[in-house]
Amino acid sequence: MKITMVGAGYVGLVSGACFADFGHRVTCVDHDPLRISALERGEMPIYEPGLDLLVAKNVKEGRLRFSTDLAEAARDAEAIFIAVGTPSRRGDGHADLSFVYAAAKEIAAFAHPEAIIVTKSTVPVGTGDEVERIARAARPGVEFAVVSNPEFLREGAAIGDFKRPDRIVIGTLDQRARDVMYEIYRPLTLNEPPIVFTDRRSSEMIKYAANAFLALKITFINEIADLCEKINADVQQIARGIGLDNRIGSKFLHPGPGFGGSCFPKDTQALVKTAQDAGAPLRIIETVMSVNDARKMKMTERVIQACGGSVQNKKIAILGLAFKPNTDDLREAPALEIINGLSSAGARIFAYDPQAMPSAKKLLPNIELADDAYSCVRGAEVLVIVTEWDEFRALDLDRIKKLMQQPVIVDLRNIYRPKEIFDQGFKYFSIGR
Ligand code: UDX
Repeated sequence: MKITMVGAGYVGLVSGACFADFGHRVTCVDHDPLRISALERGEMPIYEPGLDLLVAKNVKEGRLRFSTDLAEAARDAEAIFIAVGTPSRRGDGHADLSFVYAAAKEIAAFAHPEAIIVTKSTVPVGTGDEVERIARAARPGVEFAVVSNPEFLREGAAIGDFKRPDRIVIGTLDQRARDVMYEIYRPLTLNEPPIVFTDRRSSEMIKYAANAFLALKITFINEIADLCEKINADVQQIARGIGLDNRIGSKFLHPGPGFGGSCFPKDTQALVKTAQDAGAPLRIIETVMSVNDARKMKMTERVIQACGGSVQNKKIAILGLAFKPNTDDLREAPALEIINGLSSAGARIFAYDPQAMPSAKKLLPNIELADDAYSCVRGAEVLVIVTEWDEFRALDLDRIKKLMQQPVIVDLRNIYRPKEIFDQGFKYFSIGR
């Protein structure tokens, strides 16, 4: 099939490359000529494992190309996906849909009348209705079908998530559009992932409800972790003990410094706004948001306590800046909050992350960036593990201890076993145990 992807950002690029890999002919369109020329040179705008190779392979085999020319790319496409950003709108927290609506208008001007328009961007309930209205108004006489097809891609694991999804959600009541969508995803049906055919509004809501539930699950285990610390129980055991119940499930029960990233904070906020406006407030998700925000700040206090109550003029080593491993993304990363808190308390911060250093240079100009974990900890009074990159799971602790001023580790991701670390002669603080 011929597919056009509008927006060559994270979602558009991963989805476009995966569709091309299924055998479809895909053009990823973006307004930004620098982004497009970089992609044509094989340079990825984001770090996502495997994406560069997948793009290169499909470009070479002639199924994937990049362009700034939407008119040309849309003309004979059978499906045109909208995969542009929906950032939080400044001031009121609603999702900013201006990019989605602008794309809808532009697509309608050039698309083949039979083409279906598919929204992949995360958009509040009712956006599809508005996209349909805009598209039909822009081309009077053409009854464009508009489909909702949310993505459930985790950064760092996006290609696997796309190719082996738990489910595919397709929101439209239009039978022809359903058939086109089925054709697009047919290469995946060999593995028989459930396809949820539903109406457009329910599909839009599924995406927000899924992310809000996952954010809730994380926040739940984080609060249980805090309680475990008070009552001398081990949160890892609790997570295992409850996670084995099929009704609960073991995933997303890892306690930590609070969730971050480009989706959960923004999507919970947008959902809360939608619910308030609809007169059916989601008090549980409002609480998740405020508990999570407070948690990131509380992590600073833990580090200060581990340093004996003051970090004034002390060197602190931070391992991991990205909001999670296998990405270079710093958006809403707990590390930012922790570093700001510690800097305000007078600490000198040294940090290292395997991928996020270029973005850290811009966002955190006042800290020292180290070349690796070992140079980061040299002379430090405390080592704080903020992101659970694999390379931090197997540090040479003997070497670390010799390099540090004081052998103190604050492990905000529970990647070490307390006994192992105590046996090596460290003071060790983790989460919920
Ligand atoms: C998320 C959703 O998982 C994905 O389906 C959606 O479409 C986009 O948002 P992503 O933000 O890439 O993906 O990362 P995810 O792996 O979900 O982690 C989000 C945050 O939660 C991270 O900060 C992570 O560290 C934290 N987290 C996750 C925990 O603290 N504990 C967990 O058990 C799981």
